Amino acid sequence: MLGSSGCAVSSLALGTMTFGTETDEGAAHAQLDRFVDDGGTLIDTADVYGAGASEEIIGRWLAKVPASVRDRVVLATKGRFSMSPEPNGAGLSRRHLSKALDASLARLQSDVVDLYQAHAWDPLTPIDETLRFYDDAVRAGKVRYVGFSNFTGWQIQKAVDECRRSGLAAPVTLQPQYNLLVREVEWEIVPACESTGLGVLPWSPLGGGWLTGKYRRDERPSGATRLGEHPDRGVEAYDRRQRVERTWAVIDCVQAIASRRGCSMAQVAIAWLAARPVVTSVILGARTLDQLKDNLGAIEVQLDAEESAELDRVSDPSAADYPYGGPGVEQRSRTLL
Ligand SMILES: NC(=O)c1ccc[n+]([C@@H]2O[C@H](COP(=O)([O-])OP(=O)(O)OC[C@H]3O[C@@H](n4cnc5c(N)ncnc54)[C@H](OP(=O)(O)O)[C@@H]3O)[C@@H](O)[C@H]2O)c1
Repeated sequence: MLGSSGCAVSSLALGTMTFGTETDEGAAHAQLDRFVDDGGTLIDTADVYGAGASEEIIGRWLAKVPASVRDRVVLATKGRFSMSPEPNGAGLSRRHLSKALDASLARLQSDVVDLYQAHAWDPLTPIDETLRFYDDAVRAGKVRYVGFSNFTGWQIQKAVDECRRSGLAAPVTLQPQYNLLVREVEWEIVPACESTGLGVLPWSPLGGGWLTGKYRRDERPSGATRLGEHPDRGVEAYDRRQRVERTWAVIDCVQAIASRRGCSMAQVAIAWLAARPVVTSVILGARTLDQLKDNLGAIEVQLDAEESAELDRVSDPSAADYPYGGPGVEQRSRTLL
């Protein structure tokens, strides 16, 4: 289900951040066709992806598919990041979001989106202003469900409490980065989702491609890869992960399990994530149709208890100290102290 809502969704979702940039319109439509042919329903985009191009590409696809396919799609988008250099061209204010939502609907050639997500917290807008805007959008029939993305634990709890106190449409999902290389969300953010009933829609399930084994310990990225294409940003991001020993231990472990099973590394990484209890639907990302086909194959992979335990152990970011590890854990326990 889509988090705490009554809306059913596929356990793998199609992310569309590459549409209109790395992936041209023809290739993007081929990905969308393949995704729904395989039974996928949840499609995730955002106004900022390709500066509106991703939503436009999806809108033109929605306009041409049969009504039965259109009806099956559960459409998710986001607003918050900068769509113009004007002072109100970004943020979670009513002023920005009312324009941003209408612009997203126009690009998507849709009267309503199923899930409208706050792309990130806005420190300048009181959260009740945002939540009231969302509630009005639900009542106006432009939005069916509300979700958050990239919120921290206290931000989730504060917003959910405000919705309950004021009887406003409450969020049903959170979209955080979550994968075998980024598990720190389990310290505070995942528990906040469990406590408030939000389903988790993880982004970057392959850590942006790292978990396919394409980046090497002793070789700077090059060529048509997310990091190789952007010499400055890419090298900086590569260096940040390259120097963490755990990165390579995780990649080796994913590789070993994939070769034992005869499946791809991407499928192992996605299967691990899809099996986490809090996860509603894993948002896949692909530059090419072949990558998408590979990733969709994860649906056939069920890791056994030993494989999952191996991956859990090697990817554990182990908060060694207070407040999430060591004395912090002891102080919260009724049995230890
Ligand atoms: N809410 C947010 O703030 C946020 C942020 C980021 C993403 N998202 C959402 O999450 C979706 C997925 O994120 P992501 O694209 O970062 O996911 P990801 O799966 O971690 O990375 C996808 C990238 O990895 C490479 N790749 C994917 N499958 C592959 C395969 N089978 N073999 C080899 N390489 C493969 C491709 O890059 P190259 O070919 O270029 O190497 C692809 O673009 C996005 O489309 C978007 O909808 C949300």
